[in-house]
Amino acid sequence: MSKIAELNETVELKIGENSYSLPVIVGTENERGIDISKLRGSSKYITLDPGFKNTGSTRSAITFLNGEDGVLRHRGYSIDDLTDKASFLEVAYLVIHGELPSAAQLESLEQRVKEATTLDTSMETLLNAFPTTSHPMGILAATIGSLHGYHPESLDPYSDESVKEQTMIQLLAKLPMLAAWIYRRGAGKGYIAANPDLGYIENFLYMMYAEEGQPYEVDHAVANALNKLLILHVDHEQNCSASTVRIVGSSHANLFGSISAGINALWGPLHGGANQKVIEMLESIQQDGGDTEKWLNKAKDKSDPFRLMGFGHRVYKNFDPRARIIKKSADEVLEKLNIDDPALPIAKQLEEAALNDEYFAARKLYPNVDFYSGIIYRALGIPTDMFTVMFAIGRLPGWMAQWKEMRDNGDPIGRPRQVYTGYTARPFVEKENR
Ligand code: ACO
Repeated sequence: MSKIAELNETVELKIGENSYSLPVIVGTENERGIDISKLRGSSKYITLDPGFKNTGSTRSAITFLNGEDGVLRHRGYSIDDLTDKASFLEVAYLVIHGELPSAAQLESLEQRVKEATTLDTSMETLLNAFPTTSHPMGILAATIGSLHGYHPESLDPYSDESVKEQTMIQLLAKLPMLAAWIYRRGAGKGYIAANPDLGYIENFLYMMYAEEGQPYEVDHAVANALNKLLILHVDHEQNCSASTVRIVGSSHANLFGSISAGINALWGPLHGGANQKVIEMLESIQQDGGDTEKWLNKAKDKSDPFRLMGFGHRVYKNFDPRARIIKKSADEVLEKLNIDDPALPIAKQLEEAALNDEYFAARKLYPNVDFYSGIIYRALGIPTDMFTVMFAIGRLPGWMAQWKEMRDNGDPIGRPRQVYTGYTARPFVEKENR
């Protein structure tokens, strides 16, 4: 679907004596962008925007975010409706293909994913070869990158649609399986195969927690909470990891390599890695006597590198709608599982204090998706260093949708420019004269 309005609106830019007419692009939700793609050719000037705070990198029809009003929709459907009414694989199909699947399309997707939920025995050797101190995100990125070797047809950037489709199925199937095996490796448990009688979420829980040869009962409250949590993470337009996936893929790198790069981008504590850091922060506050005011002051102190983890967002300058849903879900999950986690009251106290604080109000800093998600993951028995891996399972469909859109649109290779600030030409200095 391409609904870019053909406007006659232009913006005039004056540089010295010269004037340049720049076209205005309008999206379907009426946001406006100035198209500067030909500016350097005509004027020799580039634009400078470190961190891309005001720069659109592409036109996209996948996700709409309105940071001022706290709106999030995928392909036009609200995040509230999707988390309430859909399954994770349904939403995956939606973001990748643009429409909700029919019953037959969903059944076919579920079946194909089930059939692909296997790993070659050599993967066990590979997993066992990582040092015990390896972080699960590093192992996930490396093992996902290695999958191309089992599917060499995916290396051809001009492979036909069925190969791209099959590669996406392989990733949907194998990423959660690898996540479960990475967890088992860390927990010193043997690897177990998927159970074909179970659905996507249930199978993931089975591969994580079942004991070989013993019956395993999936807790439906846990499966439902996880389904919701994964949907909440599905896509978030041109964030750090999605932009990474697109830019790596723009060189015509294969999908496994592009997703592996996205996993590494997600790992950082300013992005998906924040969910691990939030729980570590809440634990530190608890061990420190629970004085939230003291930690808020630390976050406000410009000479202290500490930031309130799980707070703030590049786009949301209002409540992150995902945080609102997750907070409610955290209450429900803890009650259903009868868990009394001391981190939850600390998180709520911290949130309330921050929302009433001038520093946070003036900068429009609200809780983001990562603020409460760790509390749910912990209630589900997932260790802290696996939290960002859980985020990656949820974000995979979005990364693939972004990669597919970039390829289908024929986007050019991503290659920003710079304003050079180094030395001008100078003579080489011989070693003995340095
Ligand atoms: N704690 C304290 N101060 C903060 C915080 C925070 N969490 N976040 C932003 N600020 C302050 C900054 O110091 C800056 O203050 P100043 O104007 O006085 O210099 C102002 O708010 C604006 O912040 P920027 O860093 O310029 O905002 P930016 O859009 O570049 O960064 C980010 C957004 C990275 C999310 C930031 O808010 C942050 O570091 N948050 C904590 C980490 C986190 O939770 N990340 C997860 C984000 S959601 C996701 O990626 C899945």
